Amino acid sequence: MDAIKCITTRRSIRAFKQEPIDSDLLRKVVDIARWSPSYKDSQPWEVIILSGERKKALSQMMVDLLERGAEPTPDLPAPVSWPEKEQERIDHLYAARKEATGIDLNDPGIIQKAKKANFNFYNAPHAFYLLQDSSLSQWSLFDLGLFAQSLMLAAHAMGIGTVPQAFATDYAGEIKEFLGIPSAKRLVLGISVGYPDWDSPANQLRTDRVPAEELITWME
Ligand SMILES: Cc1cc2nc3c(=O)[nH]c(=O)nc-3n(C[C@H](O)[C@H](O)[C@H](O)COP(=O)(O)O)c2cc1C
Repeated sequence: MDAIKCITTRRSIRAFKQEPIDSDLLRKVVDIARWSPSYKDSQPWEVIILSGERKKALSQMMVDLLERGAEPTPDLPAPVSWPEKEQERIDHLYAARKEATGIDLNDPGIIQKAKKANFNFYNAPHAFYLLQDSSLSQWSLFDLGLFAQSLMLAAHAMGIGTVPQAFATDYAGEIKEFLGIPSAKRLVLGISVGYPDWDSPANQLRTDRVPAEELITWME
């Protein structure tokens, strides 16, 4: 698959086949992603790959916390509001998602359900966590974003589906304790990983993008 096709056909996958992915293939995805650029080649990224019982136990812990009404402890706080333009795009996504899946993310009752699905990593056989030292600057967060995209594109090129998940870091404090990760690490992103179930309605949504011309200011 060429780079242009890979970038333009990747999409978030939210339903997976149960077939596990060979660990050599999972390693290969990370092996490719490490060629991402980073500030001064500092490579401020670490990856945890969860599968099997450990993943199941972590999901259960997050679901239990949610059901108990525990306050989230994310390392990166969730945005409380958005500028008008970005909010319009979010509204557009929510409307499209409601039409494609029947799930209305504006319904507070649904949020609980959506979080549970996220905590269960959409039943994917594997979950990645991306993390870095919390003393690193915002540039390193930027670098980790580049790494995340490389990882998801490498996976896509190999027929592996992914979805990046901020929700999966809701209970960062408890997740780090459970997995034995030092509290000085910043847990930035969870990613569900597995072979896509293309028959699921959850995977039928193709999100929109605003036209390039709206993003560009030509200056001569
Ligand atoms: C930083 C980040 C956090 C995200 N968090 C979640 C999440 O918690 N749960 C989820 O289902 N999707 C999450 N997404 C996926 C976005 O909803 C998705 O990328 C966006 O709607 C565009 O759709 P596409 O990935 O199919 O192109 C996240 C994406 C990014 C980049």
